[in-house]
Amino acid sequence: MRPAKDFFAPLAVGAPAPLREIPARPSRAIHFFDPGNPKMAAKVPDMVGTVDVLLGNLEDAVKAENKEVSREGLVKIGQDVDFGPTQFWTRINSLDSPWVLDDLTTLVPAIGHKLDVIMVPKVQGAEDIHYVDRILAQLEAKAGLDRPILVHAILETARGVANIEEICGASPRMQGLSLGPADLAADRRMKTTRVGGGHPGYLVRQDPVDGDIEGPRTTYQQDLWHYTIARMVDACAMHGIYPYYGPFGDIADVVACEDQFRNAFLLGCVGAWSLHPKQIAIANKVFSPSVEDVRHARRVIAAMGDGTGAVMLDGKMEDDASVKQCKVMVALAEELAA
Ligand code: GLV
Ligand code: MG
Repeated sequence: MRPAKDFFAPLAVGAPAPLREIPARPSRAIHFFDPGNPKMAAKVPDMVGTVDVLLGNLEDAVKAENKEVSREGLVKIGQDVDFGPTQFWTRINSLDSPWVLDDLTTLVPAIGHKLDVIMVPKVQGAEDIHYVDRILAQLEAKAGLDRPILVHAILETARGVANIEEICGASPRMQGLSLGPADLAADRRMKTTRVGGGHPGYLVRQDPVDGDIEGPRTTYQQDLWHYTIARMVDACAMHGIYPYYGPFGDIADVVACEDQFRNAFLLGCVGAWSLHPKQIAIANKVFSPSVEDVRHARRVIAAMGDGTGAVMLDGKMEDDASVKQCKVMVALAEELAA
């Protein structure tokens, strides 16, 4: 069952790039919980309304011997909890695992009417999305569901990165992509041992001052993920779906987490994963435009009248292109306020 809806908003002069209509609900923090962990599961009802997305994780971080328990826990949570304004997502096991078919055939009939998005890990190419799309279509039809479950792919293999455009466009169900820095680092044979974030060894060093290579020099740490995030943002924008930063594993380092999330936000991402409740607040803050930015954007829009031509504001030139950027900012603020 493919959605009958026209996914693409009509183009208007001066409008930012069109995004598909359906997944426009805010999703700044995708908060992961293990539905098989009784302590975490018990907290889910109280988290409704405090976070944009609650995601029951069935894949990595769930021990192999607990896969069934976690799946059963997710079914119970899906049946018992009223998610209200919060989206309900799951991350199923990867397509090369022995658990994924049971994940789909159990979840869709039992809680498919509640599930907004299924996150598919380790996606390699369009064929993986086609496979999930077809199975979902059959299960949705059998269960009589009246809205499609959307699909979100994790970008965490070198092959997935190479096939990124075809993945984004593989199905009208595609809602977005997340960077999976831990698996991607392993797949690329990067020499890191972390879940996301930077590395003190990945730096550039200031040139020697007066030719003195022994003298003190400043070093600048670089962002290991810049290339992949930028690639992901372009592919998602081209296909009208949403890009997300993934996990930041150093829970205690809230400062570096905020920096990493902010880089992703500035480059075009709409959200990130939360692995601990304290990361929800960070994501909500970072992925919401600041009051000052929105105020400035509204001033530019007002000064630009019909949005064409050029004006000087505070000594800076604004034109058709800057007004489009300002409209992106204001549209996001309005969407989050709605
Ligand atoms: C997430 O799944 C990752 O591998 O970083
Ligand atoms: Mg992973």
